Amino acid sequence: MKFAIVLLAFMAITVQAQSELTKVTKQPFGKMPNGTPVELYTLKSGQVEVRIMTYGGIVQSLKAPDRNGKDADIVLGFDSLDQYVKTGNPAYFGAIIGRFANRIAHGKFTLDGKVYTLPKNDGDNSLHGGLKGFDKVVWNAKEVKDGIELTHVSKDGDQGYPGTLSVVVRYTLQGNELRIDYSATTDKDTVLNLTNHSYFNLAGQGNGNILPEEVKIDASRYTPIDASMIPTGELAPVAGTPFDFRKLTVIGARINESNEQLHFAKGYDDNWVLDGHNGKLATAAEVYDRTTGRVLTVLTTEPGIQFYTGNFLDGTLTGKDGRVYKKHYGLTLETQHYPDSPNHPNFPSTELKPGQRFHEVTVLRFSTR
Ligand code: GLA
Repeated sequence: MKFAIVLLAFMAITVQAQSELTKVTKQPFGKMPNGTPVELYTLKSGQVEVRIMTYGGIVQSLKAPDRNGKDADIVLGFDSLDQYVKTGNPAYFGAIIGRFANRIAHGKFTLDGKVYTLPKNDGDNSLHGGLKGFDKVVWNAKEVKDGIELTHVSKDGDQGYPGTLSVVVRYTLQGNELRIDYSATTDKDTVLNLTNHSYFNLAGQGNGNILPEEVKIDASRYTPIDASMIPTGELAPVAGTPFDFRKLTVIGARINESNEQLHFAKGYDDNWVLDGHNGKLATAAEVYDRTTGRVLTVLTTEPGIQFYTGNFLDGTLTGKDGRVYKKHYGLTLETQHYPDSPNHPNFPSTELKPGQRFHEVTVLRFSTR
C-alpha cells in the first residue's frame, strides 16, 4: 500500500515535470536574397508555443490559450520570410530593435565631445537603429536550455554608432513565461537601447482592433513628445490625462479625446516612466482581453515602456492567414530606456563603455482570468 502511494506520487511529479519541460525544435524558413539561410525555432511548453526566426530575431507567432483552453496566435506577422524581406517589415512586427530603440532627434547625438550622425529614416529623426537595424540582420543561433541564444556582432560605425558591439539575445520559455535576456559589450564608448517590437492582439491576430482591450501601466509619469515625436525632456504626471493607466482601463476609452499628445501620435505612442524601477525585474504593465480572458503581464528591468497602439497600420499590410492589418489591430509594449536619451542628460543614461556588460531582462507572462 505504502509503496503504491509513493509510486503514484512519483508518477505525478514526473508527469508535472514533463508538462513543464520546454521543447525546442528548428526548421528551415527560407533564404535571404544573398542566399543566407534563415531558421525558424519553435519553443513549446505545456502552455505556450512561440516561433522565433533568426532573421531579425523576430517572434513570428505566439500561441496561448484563452480561458476555455482554446489556443490562438496573438502576435502580428507574416507567414513567410519573403514577406518580411520584401515588405521590409516596415512596422517592425516581432523584431529585436537595436542599436537604439525608438527615435534619436535629427539623427544626431554627442558622446565624449564627438558628434555622431545617424541615417534619418523617420522624417528628420533616426528610428529603431537606422536603415539596417538589428531587425534586418540574420542572427547566429544556438539552442540552450528552454530556448535559444541569438548572437550578432555589429561593427564599429554600423548605422553611424561607435564601437564594435557584441550582442546576445536569449529567448527562453518556461511554462507561461517567455523571458528575453539582452546582453552586450562594446570596445568603445557607445549608446545602446534594445527592445522587442511584438504587436499583440489578445483576441487573436487579425481579429479586429485592440481598442476594447484593457491596459494597466505602472507609471505616474510619461515623457511627452513634440510634433516630430521626440520627447520634450519633461517627465509629466499622467494624473488627470488620457495617459493615466495606473488602473486597468479600456484602450479606446480616451484615445479620441482632443489632446495634443494623442493628436501628434494619432493614438498612443509614448514612453511611460515606470514607477520605482531600479534595475530589478518588476511588473510594468498588463493587458487584459475581457472577451477571451487572456492576460499579458509584462515584467522588466528597464526604466521605461513604449505603449503604441498600431496607429500607423493602415490596411496596406496583409499578414498571417491573409488577415489585413488595419489601424489599431495590434499594440506594442516596448520595454526600453526613454527615446532620444543621448540628447537628454536628465534621462537615465544609455551609455555603454568598454569593460561594462549591458544586461536587461523582459518577461512576458501569458495567463487567463
Ligand atoms: C514604435 C514607434 C512608433 C512606430 C513604430 C513602428 O512604436 O514609437 O512611432 O514607429 O515603432 O511603426
